[in-house]
Amino acid sequence: MNILVINGPNINMLGKREKALYGSMTYENLKNNLDDFSTKYNVEIEFFQSSIEGEIVDKIHEFEKFDGIIINPAAYSHYSIAILDALKIPDIPIIEVHISNVHSREDYRKELLTAQAAVGVIAGLGFKGYELAIEYIVATKA
Ligand code: DQA
Repeated sequence: MNILVINGPNINMLGKREKALYGSMTYENLKNNLDDFSTKYNVEIEFFQSSIEGEIVDKIHEFEKFDGIIINPAAYSHYSIAILDALKIPDIPIIEVHISNVHSREDYRKELLTAQAAVGVIAGLGFKGYELAIEYIVATKA
């Protein structure tokens, strides 16, 4: 099984950015953790991170290679119609993940535009959210 994990702007700065919110683990740590985690489910993960909206759209267009998409669109979640429209195309499960609890933060983070195209949203559980999303996709494909 192949799962695409997309992370949006500034997620590559994990470990340096707002540690009180996002913790001290880096994006490399996230990828390594998920690679380790996914081996027990026989899942291959492709990671993609970009701070450029159009690059994220183009990556979503590659959905036919994957059984599911896990996406943290980061700030784009709150306003990107282009990413929302792209996420409406695939006929595979899409899970939106946020490391922080966006609902307990600024009001402008409470709207998750892109989540309209997701089967579900996990927010506030840190890196664990990505693991739970993998388990969901594995369970739905079993
Ligand atoms: C985030 C939450 C967003 O509001 C923020 O812009 C991010 C990260 C999260 O994972 O908690 O960059 O998506």
